[in-house]
Amino acid sequence: MRIVTDPLALRDAISPETTVGFVPTMGYLHEGHLSLVEAAKQENDLVVMSIFVNPTQFGPNEDLDRYPRDFDRDEALAREAGVDILFYPDTTTMYPLDMARVTVRTGADVLCGASRPGHFDGVLTVVSKLFNIVRPTRAYFGLKDAQQVALIEGYVHDYFVPVEIRRCPIIREASGLAKSSRNVYLSESERIEAAEINKALTEAETGLQTGVAVTAVKARLIERLDAIPNSTIDYVEIVDYPTLTEAHDTSQELLIAAAVQFERARLIDNVIWKRG
Ligand code: PAF
Repeated sequence: MRIVTDPLALRDAISPETTVGFVPTMGYLHEGHLSLVEAAKQENDLVVMSIFVNPTQFGPNEDLDRYPRDFDRDEALAREAGVDILFYPDTTTMYPLDMARVTVRTGADVLCGASRPGHFDGVLTVVSKLFNIVRPTRAYFGLKDAQQVALIEGYVHDYFVPVEIRRCPIIREASGLAKSSRNVYLSESERIEAAEINKALTEAETGLQTGVAVTAVKARLIERLDAIPNSTIDYVEIVDYPTLTEAHDTSQELLIAAAVQFERARLIDNVIWKRG
């Protein structure tokens, strides 16, 4: 595995005929990231992973400074997983002039975007830069960040970016808790309590499946999540996917999503319910 920090060196390392599977990350790798590498290995000649904690997607009072980082551990995991090139730039490299950024027009004012203003502008800005540097054939994103996936798909469509976006399933612990770099902030009891989020979402999915109205399913979900000790609900939403607009009777896919704040970690999770 090669470690590259310079965009031009990265370009030189990849021949134009090679199919490239790209896994963008902010590091502190877990099984979710490694499953993306596995998917990328299946259908590309070369796998490129990036590790970059992107400052522009963090709000002023968010956890940029204490976001977990451990490059040596990440390097070993990436190597073991079969990554060919690890792109590890610094902030000056990624934001040399910072003259231009991507702005999301629709879909960023709901769910995580409502509580994290500007977050998705930062995500699309850095993803756009990374796509221009890596020029991947396919890029792999986990559905835990379902809103992020929808907005990246929209950006790729709107900007005619020649990359295929692959939606990859959420990887969970045995308890159902979605794997996340931020789980490291949970105490042992919070980790047990946080597993309730997935149970409540699964129950909501069953509700929709059995014909219960969206409003009733949402009310029950709020009740279930409200009962989790030592936590507060940030949001609970059921929206059309991937448009992220209000759920309607003919929606083919509904995103049932929640964010729950524990003492030191804000966790997100979701289920996508497909009609039929
Ligand atoms: O999902 C993430 O880890 C980040 O939002 C991403 C896509 C790497 C952009 O910084």
